[in-house]
Formats: sequence, structure tokens, C-alpha cells
Amino acid sequence: MSQIIVDTNLCKGDGACVAVCAARVLVLSQEGFPEELPETRCILCGHCVAVCPNDALTHTGLPREEFLPASKKLPAPAVIDGFLNSRRSVREFKNKPVARETLEALLDVARRAPTATNSQKLHWIVVGGGEKVRALSAEAVNWMRASGTSSAMLAQWEGGYDFILRGAPTVVAACAPEDYGWGKQDCAIALTFLELAAEARGLGVCWAGYLTRVAAVHAPLRQALSVPDGYAVCGGLMLGEPRYKYRLVPPRKPLSVQWL
Ligand SMILES: Cc1cc2nc3c(=O)[nH]c(=O)nc-3n(C[C@H](O)[C@H](O)[C@H](O)COP(=O)(O)O)c2cc1C
Repeated sequence: MSQIIVDTNLCKGDGACVAVCAARVLVLSQEGFPEELPETRCILCGHCVAVCPNDALTHTGLPREEFLPASKKLPAPAVIDGFLNSRRSVREFKNKPVARETLEALLDVARRAPTATNSQKLHWIVVGGGEKVRALSAEAVNWMRASGTSSAMLAQWEGGYDFILRGAPTVVAACAPEDYGWGKQDCAIALTFLELAAEARGLGVCWAGYLTRVAAVHAPLRQALSVPDGYAVCGGLMLGEPRYKYRLVPPRKPLSVQWL
């Protein structure tokens, strides 16, 4: 059964919906209206509805009220480049949890990140409050101690410095089903969206690599995070208000690039 409903009074038959259809599910009928081909698989990307200049399409799998207006104004490239270049990994945070409504707004941006075949399989875990975050670090340190991690790092922990999650007040972990082949990529992209949306709000962010690596091999850390059965932690971010501002953008290695 077709999932596309066409308002033939509004449709001008311009074919934009057919052209942008990711799964090539749509064609223009002899009457000049879009119709769904049989035995095709729509990936529910919503492009057909989103592109129609005449508001002529409805998709039964995508509630109309959940479409947002697309932003019309592009930010100046210099503004975007400056923003991206000035992003830094923040490792010193104020002792203040990120507000729930801010986290909800960030997750709402992250859920709009692209996912392979629009599968949207990610699961999020938000850990709020310095004590809960420190308990995660402690569990990671337990594994590191048992597996012979450098004693200099562990000495930092013993000295009261949390090198795992840097004393962040909030941690967000992105999980994906273990049997899903694009989990790492989808999580990294969604976390990057979240990171940039957080920085746009003045928050400081750092990728939680230790947490991710130890969660992959240490079940007690996955339990401490309440990772659902069948899911893997594919990435995480520390978040909080930064204690310091950076004045300069550090240099990078020269590009390694081939132009073909
Ligand atoms: C996948 C990934 C994992 C990372 N894990 C950690 C981490 O566990 N702890 C940390 O302090 N920084 C971590 N970082 C931050 C990098 O060290 C940082 O991006 C790099 O030093 C460059 O600095 P910049 O982000 O300020 O440009 C991680 C970065 C990435 C991309």
C-alpha cells in the first residue's frame, strides 16, 4: 500500500519529490502525479514531503506536524569556519551540571544527524552530576589497574585527578546495536552534531575516548552505564561549562591529500 498521499489540487507535477527520493521509490504517473512503485522500500527519509514547494504530499509514516521549517539563511562561511576552527577539547569544567532542557535540545539536534539508510538505531545515555560521572571513571580505572595501564596515569587518579572524564559534570554516551554495521559511524556523526550544538551554546566538550574503549571490554562499566542488552557504547562526550577560554587556534600537521 502506498505511503504517499498526493493532494492533486496542490501538486503541480514538477517531479521534485521523484528526483530527490533516496530509494528511487517514486515515479510520475501518466497523469503527472507522483506515485510509489510496487516492491520498493521507502527509507522514510522524508525528502519527498520536505522538498515539495506546494505542500502537496503527505507520508503516512511521517507525521506532518513533526516536520520543522528548514532554515532559509546560510551562515557566512567565515563565521562557520571560525566557529569550527575555534572548537577545542575542553578538559576543565565548572562544577555545574548541564540543564536538562539544554541536553534535550542537543539530543534533538543529534537525532537529526544522518544515519546509514536512515536507520536511526542509536540509543543515548545521559549521565548527569559529577558524582555519577566520577563513579564511571572509577570503574574504568578498576579495569585499567587490572590490565596494567601505565602507573603514571593511575597515580594521577590516586592523586585525585580524573583523567578519564576530567571532572565533567555531564557525560553523554551514544550506543548502537552490536549487530549493526554502521554503529560507529552513525554515533560519531551524531556526537559531532551534538558537540557543535553544545559549543554553539557556550558549553565545553571533550570526546570520552577512555570511557568508550574501556566500556567495550569491561562489563562492569557497561553495567554502571546501564547499557541495554545487545547494544555497544560507540562513543561519548564530556560536557560542561568551560573554566577557560582559548585565545588561539593551535596549528595542525600539513594536509596529506591527493588530487586526482
Ligand atoms: C575519538 C576521540 C577520542 C578522544 N578521547 C579523549 C579522551 O578520552 N580524553 C581526552 O582528554 N581527550 C580525548 N580526545 C580529544 C583529543 O585528544 C583532541 O581532539 C586532540 O588532542 C586535538 O585537540 P582539540 O580537540 O582541542 O583540537 C578524543 C578525541 C577523539 C576524536
